[in-house]
Amino acid sequence: MAGVAVCGAMGRMGKAILAILGENPYGLTLSGAVEAAGHPLIGRDVAAVAGGGRTGVKVTEDPGSAIAAADVAIDFSTADASVRNAFLAAEAGKPIVIGSTGIGADQLERIREAAGKTAIVQSPNMSIGVNLMFRVAADMARVLGDDYDVEIVETHHRFKKDAPSGTAVKLADVVASALERNMEEVGVYGRKGMTGERSRREIGVFAMRSGDVVGEHTLVFGGIGERLEITHRAHSRDTFARGAVRAASWVLGKPPGLYDMADVLGFRR
Ligand SMILES: NC(=O)c1ccc[n+]([C@@H]2O[C@H](COP(=O)([O-])OP(=O)(O)OC[C@H]3O[C@@H](n4cnc5c(N)ncnc54)[C@H](O)[C@@H]3O)[C@@H](O)[C@H]2O)c1
Repeated sequence: MAGVAVCGAMGRMGKAILAILGENPYGLTLSGAVEAAGHPLIGRDVAAVAGGGRTGVKVTEDPGSAIAAADVAIDFSTADASVRNAFLAAEAGKPIVIGSTGIGADQLERIREAAGKTAIVQSPNMSIGVNLMFRVAADMARVLGDDYDVEIVETHHRFKKDAPSGTAVKLADVVASALERNMEEVGVYGRKGMTGERSRREIGVFAMRSGDVVGEHTLVFGGIGERLEITHRAHSRDTFARGAVRAASWVLGKPPGLYDMADVLGFRR
């Protein structure tokens, strides 16, 4: 059995991952559960707070020891914590799967630096459907070219802290790069007032926050006389949690480097 340290263990995603690890998929088992310093559940057995049989694993605020004692780490906490944990994983020579979103360009650079020393899988969306959507989106953009207006709409639960979602950001980047555009120049995040006519090259990104929606993304290509849309709807967090656990199993034994779900799922071209 290979031990997994889960960072952000008492969060929505952390608990979904703990539940899946309880089934020991791919020969993986929970070995550590890390939470933010001062979290009220520090020191409690994870089984007592997340359900399932006794694990003997207590929630800790010491990511360094938990990662060093594990074979692989899975991190769904915050962007800042994930950057720190990437370096702790690199120091300990352990691979890490990072699912946290809201990771800025500078933070991504730091994760890339840590990936010089250990294998890191980083993806804002670990579901199979969304990763297939990334691939199909690039193909659609190349075929439709500059004649179609590209807009992206995402909806998430009211508790989500960052906007637009990491998935929407990546989807926009995928389409922009297929159209040889740069989101720094063509990204439009919401519209209000006398904005004038839409420019041909802009890519619009819109974030709705509503109730308990797990995650929905629609990519729209609007032409004259027709509109083509592709939508992904996540029904539960299980799809992300299963993808993250699959990534943890895949990354064990991989050479240092920064990987994403296209590598894990074999979608890389
Ligand atoms: N990649 C994906 O497929 C995917 C899917 C869903 C959510 N996410 C992202 O994963 C992250 C977590 O989402 P969530 O819905 O579980 O949020 P959440 O707020 O429910 O959980 C985050 C947990 O991390 C903990 N935390 C904060 N700082 C920490 C630290 N320094 N060390 C350890 N733990 C710390 C918090 O206490 C909390 O329990 C978000 O960034 C979210 O956008 C990614």
